[in-house]
Amino acid sequence: MNHNTLSAFDRIAPWYEPFMTFFFLKRDRVLLSLIQPQGHERVLDVGAGTGRFGKILAPLCLSITLVDESERMLSRLSSKESHLEVLVGDIFSLHLPSDHYDWIVLSDVLHHLSHFERLFPLLARLLKDQGKILIHEYTPNHWTTRWLGFFERRLFGPLDFKDMDQMKKAIQPWFELEQIENKRGWYIMVAKKKGA
Ligand SMILES: C[S@@+](CC[C@H](N)C(=O)[O-])C[C@H]1O[C@@H](n2cnc3c(N)ncnc32)[C@H](O)[C@@H]1O
Repeated sequence: MNHNTLSAFDRIAPWYEPFMTFFFLKRDRVLLSLIQPQGHERVLDVGAGTGRFGKILAPLCLSITLVDESERMLSRLSSKESHLEVLVGDIFSLHLPSDHYDWIVLSDVLHHLSHFERLFPLLARLLKDQGKILIHEYTPNHWTTRWLGFFERRLFGPLDFKDMDQMKKAIQPWFELEQIENKRGWYIMVAKKKGA
């Protein structure tokens, strides 16, 4: 992500959660129902934002690591969970443990990220065998995405919304698709790391 994008998230941090609530954009319940945490999972939330989902998940799993480039987004988090770790930085630059996580959450973040050819092998390396990614993204060309994109492009610059087929193709070399929930204007995918 470039410098403009980072400072934009820092600037909008205080208004991010009220915006998401007002426009009914939070998908935490669906995300949680797909993970179905049993208490033993290690989870990595990439582009965790204000840490809203991490806070919900923290008491239900073994550990959760929240990664975000925007310090001000993460500073909105008010959680005292001991097994919740917060890391400020670019996912491509942080040194995270290999073969460590059971789940990696990518909610509303992939259209801000480029270099998928580097991202998905990196995520596969961080996951344990049988580890899974959970993707939540917006469908390009749906009116809600056009509307969101209009504002987001003015704030953050170029964005790359991928439809389900493009996303399936992008993850396919490293991940095996397990589940897709196709909603109006957005979708969720669960995919398992491919075996060696
Ligand atoms: C639209 S917010 C989504 C926040 C949260 N996942 C949610 O669902 O509400 C996208 C977040 O991704 C972060 N982000 C974008 N690119 C990143 C990168 N390369 N490394 C870490 N965080 C990144 C931004 O700072 C921002 O907080």
